[in-house]
Amino acid sequence: MTSLRFNQAKERIDELRKQLNRYNYEYYVLDNPTIGDMQFDLLMKELESLEAEFPEFDDVNSPTKRVGGQPNKSFVQREHTFPMLSLANTYSREEIADFVARAEKALPQESELEWVCELKYDGVAISLLYENGRFVRALTRGNGIVGDDVSDNIRTIKSVPLQLYGDNIPERFEIRGEVIYPHKAFEEFNQKRIENGEEPFANCRNAASGSIKLMNPQEVAQRKIECFLYFLMGDDLSEWSNHYDRLQAARSWGFNVPRYMAVARNIDEIMSFIDEWDTERENLPFDIDGIVIKLNKVKLWDTLGTTAKSPRWATAFKFKAEQAESRLLSIEYQVGRTGVITPVAVFEPVWLGGTWVRRASVHNAEQMQRLDLCQGDIVIIEKGGEIIPKIVGKKQRENESDKSATPCKRIDFISHCPVCGAKLVRQEGEAGHYCPNYNHCPPQIFGRFQHFISKKAMNIETLGDEKIKAMLDQGLLKDFSSLYDLTASDLEGLTSGEEGSKTTIRAKGANNIINAIEKSKQAGFERVLYALGIRYVGEVTAKKLARYYKNIDALKAASFNQLVEIDEIGESIAESLVNYFANSENTALIDRLRARGLKFEMQEEELSSTLEGLSFVISGTFTLFSRDELKKQIEKHSGRVISSISSKVDYVICGDNMGPQKKKKAEELGIKMIDQYEFARMIDPEKASDK
Ligand code: IVH
Repeated sequence: MTSLRFNQAKERIDELRKQLNRYNYEYYVLDNPTIGDMQFDLLMKELESLEAEFPEFDDVNSPTKRVGGQPNKSFVQREHTFPMLSLANTYSREEIADFVARAEKALPQESELEWVCELKYDGVAISLLYENGRFVRALTRGNGIVGDDVSDNIRTIKSVPLQLYGDNIPERFEIRGEVIYPHKAFEEFNQKRIENGEEPFANCRNAASGSIKLMNPQEVAQRKIECFLYFLMGDDLSEWSNHYDRLQAARSWGFNVPRYMAVARNIDEIMSFIDEWDTERENLPFDIDGIVIKLNKVKLWDTLGTTAKSPRWATAFKFKAEQAESRLLSIEYQVGRTGVITPVAVFEPVWLGGTWVRRASVHNAEQMQRLDLCQGDIVIIEKGGEIIPKIVGKKQRENESDKSATPCKRIDFISHCPVCGAKLVRQEGEAGHYCPNYNHCPPQIFGRFQHFISKKAMNIETLGDEKIKAMLDQGLLKDFSSLYDLTASDLEGLTSGEEGSKTTIRAKGANNIINAIEKSKQAGFERVLYALGIRYVGEVTAKKLARYYKNIDALKAASFNQLVEIDEIGESIAESLVNYFANSENTALIDRLRARGLKFEMQEEELSSTLEGLSFVISGTFTLFSRDELKKQIEKHSGRVISSISSKVDYVICGDNMGPQKKKKAEELGIKMIDQYEFARMIDPEKASDK
């Protein structure tokens, strides 16, 4: 080998990598190997020795690197190119029919909608980025915006292609899928853990999730996890107008796109797919927990849009989760921070999904009435995934139809709040009951404080549940603004916690708390708005509203009709906001918080309006910014980033390797094409003037 000249070595390395990638694909994706193990090993050895001899040709994506590299200390967090949404899901076939009917109604001009039905793989979501045919990185979902970079671990999964081959491969795209642990590999792996005295994993999903979060990629390489791909995203996918065709193309480039899918043309065909897999899933070599239904024609996705959390053009039907039966002892009632009353069934302990379960949610009064519960009834408890268990039914009582039998002790839903005694109300069109005593009901007040200080809200970490409870008991907290009036001497000596584990705040602790409260004043408007705990205004919605209205006065002045016009703001959110601002106690609280220095408007540095009203498409790669940074900059300056070129676009920012089709389309539509320097000048004319 040493006699091989430099160029020849490079040629041979390239050829070997290509061959080995091809054999991997045939073996792991197509399940159709064309060479034997020994031949494969020989080629791999040849490549290994050439790479050792010519380290200048080293490549992280070489097939030799599948064994895993150096251990990591922690995962780097990175932003997804497109937010990683999840899907709405239901266990009800009627709701699937409603979903289809809603889409048909919203798209009257379409004569026949096509739906792609796929299996819902029960694992961990992953997003893979490819540039110029090469694997670049893999991110976990994280919070949907930012995920952990687990590339080194994903590289060890043999069916994940590190180099793509084929026609029309887009220059840059993300492909999403699920990392799963197949049954056989999972059982072997758990068996080994037991033999080593380690705790076995409860199920395949937990094992898959644990595996991709391992710090040592070499350990991941030992685990026989798999990665199924089911969704493509990118700026350059206009060639394929259907989701189905995109997946077929992705398979041809080397991805492990499962073949368990079908195109359905109506609800009956969707139902047959569901029915078939509801029984057939028992024979699959991996876990699925339902069926995913996606609108095939991609153009229609934009028309239907998304809610804050999930698209309106796709949904999931979930198969029934694990169930158990137990004897009902009583019903307790929980009061949430928004006043919602949740009945909770207490029953004899029962083993379900790997743990002892004693309590389960009955959801609401309607469900309680429907179940017609009596003390001593045998209830059916269900546990699906991580969701808290719930009561889904009961066994018929032996003497239920016997009128002469002693009547059972029926449990009726309460009429008054179990804590503050206020008469409960039920809002029109809603199934839940609420305690209306918003400003004085203790669990609601406590829940709101818990939310206010939480990490994603004001992030006053030093104040935990117990301290908040003690401060409320001592009358130190009237509303959120009281937090900002506290002094260290108010806190010093305060005792909190349960009997036996009480703690007392000392001078240093008191000062820390006061400092943390003071620091929380730096939280931006988006976080303050979320912290207020307005019903239905979660983190994503708060962000959206803050960016749209820019300050609380504009938001307060918005009418119901104006609010629902905003993309992703539905009627419940709009109604909740209007009601919130109509209550003078709430507006007085906002005034008090504002007087204490909390931010009720977007700050200059958070938002500029330089690019207001302008839409951009980003194409190619850049040296001055990463694509994520470019996107951030556009949004920071109030511009909009659009994924594909249309007449609505004002500028295309062109980088290296911009797709020729894109260029042509932009030219045809007469859209301005600028480079990274011009863009830099647009957002900061002074800084960029030297370029
Ligand atoms: S599509 C925007 N397809 O289920 C659509 N998801 O609750 C993105 N999942 O987040 C998802 N199998 O982790 C899609 N065939 C499939 C899936 C699938 C499993 C997971 C995925 C997703 C969750 C939805």
